[in-house]
Amino acid sequence: MVVKNVCCIGAGYVGGPTCSVIAWKCPDIRVHVVDKSEMRIKQWNSDKLPIYEPGLEDVVRECRGRNLFFSNNIETAIKDADLIFISVNTPTKTYGIGKGRAADLKHIEMCARKIAEVAEGDKIVVEKSTVPVRAAESITHILSANTKPGVSFQILSNPEFLAEGTAIENLLNPDRVLIGGEESEAGAAAVAELTWIYNHWVPSEKIITLSTWSSELSKLASNAFLAQRVSSINAISALCEATGADVTQVASAVGQDSRIGSKFLTASVGFGGSCFQKDLLNLVYIAECVNLPEVAMYWQQVTDMNVYQRTRFAKRIVECLFNTVTDKTLAVFGFAFKKNTGDTRESPAIYVCSHLLEEGARLNIYDPKVERSQIEYDLTSAAVTNEPERIKKLVQIFDDPYEVVKDAHAIVVLTEWDEFKTYDFKKMHEVMKKPAFVFDGRKILDHEALIKLGFHTETIGKRFTRNCLLRSSGEHYPAFSWTP
Ligand code: NAD
Ligand code: UDX
Repeated sequence: MVVKNVCCIGAGYVGGPTCSVIAWKCPDIRVHVVDKSEMRIKQWNSDKLPIYEPGLEDVVRECRGRNLFFSNNIETAIKDADLIFISVNTPTKTYGIGKGRAADLKHIEMCARKIAEVAEGDKIVVEKSTVPVRAAESITHILSANTKPGVSFQILSNPEFLAEGTAIENLLNPDRVLIGGEESEAGAAAVAELTWIYNHWVPSEKIITLSTWSSELSKLASNAFLAQRVSSINAISALCEATGADVTQVASAVGQDSRIGSKFLTASVGFGGSCFQKDLLNLVYIAECVNLPEVAMYWQQVTDMNVYQRTRFAKRIVECLFNTVTDKTLAVFGFAFKKNTGDTRESPAIYVCSHLLEEGARLNIYDPKVERSQIEYDLTSAAVTNEPERIKKLVQIFDDPYEVVKDAHAIVVLTEWDEFKTYDFKKMHEVMKKPAFVFDGRKILDHEALIKLGFHTETIGKRFTRNCLLRSSGEHYPAFSWTP
């Protein structure tokens, strides 16, 4: 078989960009991206794509209608395809066994059942979604139990490593592509087909073939390692605040050891995004299920540290503002979980804002890419409050950063958008209540310049004002005088 038709079930942050790049790099392949959501497909076929990713629009514009198609015709797409990517969401379960930790595989199972129901001929089914180790086994069971005469399936694992905000760049130049397959002649043939697709633009030495289970676990392990680095540096940031060290200097010094490396050592208000927490919790759950409680506890600590970091930051804001934010207006810069995306899933901003709202603060929020309705939804959802009506009255969303700061007591930076660094903070200081505070949860602003302008400035992993920081970091260490 030479793959001519590819179908992707799930037109989300992964399915959309991944298949757009496949269509762009493989003009000889017809790519059909399908989704059950009519709204999502409508957006993919419009001028305003459902997700913001630098470079994505250009790729879609070039390929859409040529060899890239978006539709809700799931059955037709499955029938036509030689190779089917399953790229649906696998969120943390919110019910039943494994609630709050296990990955919910109901969407994957629905896809497997739909494929079994309508497929004709030979199909390669590719797990692109992040799944627990041995999920491919369940897909295989469903497919083989429902296989009709003349139909055969090969299941591959091909996890995706793109990061949001840099998805197109990551897809074009991946560090590696993993392809896990069955150790048989038919398995090897399926692996060769998928390798052939990637070989259109990815060099062979970057395409790693491994067992299906190793491939599945490698994805969870990669995200766990990345999240662990962020939690590690965030733990050090708390120590920096308590001792007078500067986390930027420490991270730089540590990162220059070539065995450690410099990436993913930026201390922050905590990691967010749809993957890290979900995949860590999934790993913890798997470890518990196979009776490895020490392993489970080890990885659990990475997510616990993340909760500690964002809570610590929110508490510090309250403490610095004279222990009360009730009826004070705080200007929030950034709501997305990182820059260059409009995605807010698990954004630390949701948790920091909720904490401040709980304390009675009024929040003026500005984010260059997040939709107003998304912010409203996130802050009033049942996961963070049981008083949505009260919260609605406390939150205002703005389109202009200079409007956000009017009469505010403080600026709180929660996403590292580049544009925040370009603002005229002198102008902002003039219209704010005094003393005016800046809490930079992303360490992106020029703190010395802000202090000169008269801002009381606080950031992660460094202290400018001794008293405030000592209070929030435990206070009990007599900084400058303690002896080890
Ligand atoms: P998403 O929520 O953005 O998109 C998933 C899409 O699948 C939705 O549009 C949904 O409507 C659709 N869908 C669900 N069930 C369906 C069904 N039965 N039939 C048709 N469509 C269906 O999710 P995402 O962020 O693209 O993530 C997809 C998978 O990729 C997850 O397993 C995730 O862990 C993994 N992943 C995500 C990222 C990321 O940065 N977002 C990176 C790597 C891996
Ligand atoms: C992550 C993985 O990087 C990617 O390989 C995987 O496919 C999906 O999950 P993503 O969540 O999109 O990607 O973004 P990432 O760049 O990893 O950032 C995750 C979070 O960690 C963000 O909130 C980011 O601000 C934070 N972060 C990252 C830090 O706080 N410090 C760092 O040094 C790096």
